[in-house]
Amino acid sequence: MKGVILAGGLGTRLFPLTKITNKHLLPVYDRPMIYYPIECLVNAGIDDIMIVTGGRKSGDFLSLLGNGSEFGLKHLNYTYQEGEGGIAEALGLAEHWAGDDSICVVLGDNIIEKNIRRAADDFRKQGKGAKIMLKEVHDPERFGVASLDGDKVTKIVEKPKHPESNLAVIGIYMYDNRVFDIIKTLKPSDRGELEITDVNNWFIEDGSMTYEVLDGWWTDAGTFQSLHKSSCLVADGGANQLD
Ligand code: DAU
Repeated sequence: MKGVILAGGLGTRLFPLTKITNKHLLPVYDRPMIYYPIECLVNAGIDDIMIVTGGRKSGDFLSLLGNGSEFGLKHLNYTYQEGEGGIAEALGLAEHWAGDDSICVVLGDNIIEKNIRRAADDFRKQGKGAKIMLKEVHDPERFGVASLDGDKVTKIVEKPKHPESNLAVIGIYMYDNRVFDIIKTLKPSDRGELEITDVNNWFIEDGSMTYEVLDGWWTDAGTFQSLHKSSCLVADGGANQLD
């Protein structure tokens, strides 16, 4: 399985911090944000990684990360997203590189306490379809929200006003290679983006979606509040969970 980190977008929710740099280069406690998703993939045994970047400062990723030797990698791959067409659009840019492999996608602003090794191993055994990771949150309306029926996910709604559960779909997704054909069929949402939730709902309807509930804390870092929270969680190891 190959890994794709999505670090494009304009980071407008963090203006003016993102006026002159890419969101994923901002600090989360003592390291740049992009370090965390790279570590997440490396800890899951994934060492063939593509970073999708964007914006005027995308060259800074190369200066910062080079070939990833700091993470024990031999090589890192990069590609460029023009504009902010959505998470699924950014993922589509990795098609030519992914070849026939399955992929594990990590959003560049998602940070987890522990690791996803078991979920990745389970998905390798699963072979086909998709797997998402869920986490209970107190503010589900900020995320994609999953509805469950026993051990099945029945649907995901993106940022629902009236969430049916408090289970957020976190920004770590595993897909078989059909994902790239599915992306080509998507239409932009009301916010003008190709939505990863539409991709996930396709796999749910296909009957090939599985899920796991993430162990340990998780946060995104895309708003002032969550960026601050992520630094605090990393700094104190989650001892004082902030909301
Ligand atoms: O954090 C988890 C949530 O991420 C999920 O629960 C949602 O279902 C999913 O849609 C996403 O929600 P956000 O609205 O918070 O995503 P955001 O626009 O902040 O993008 C998250 C990351 O994806 C961002 O750090 C970089 C990457 N991205 C995003 C866009 C819109 C790209 O690479 N290109 C893009 O065009």
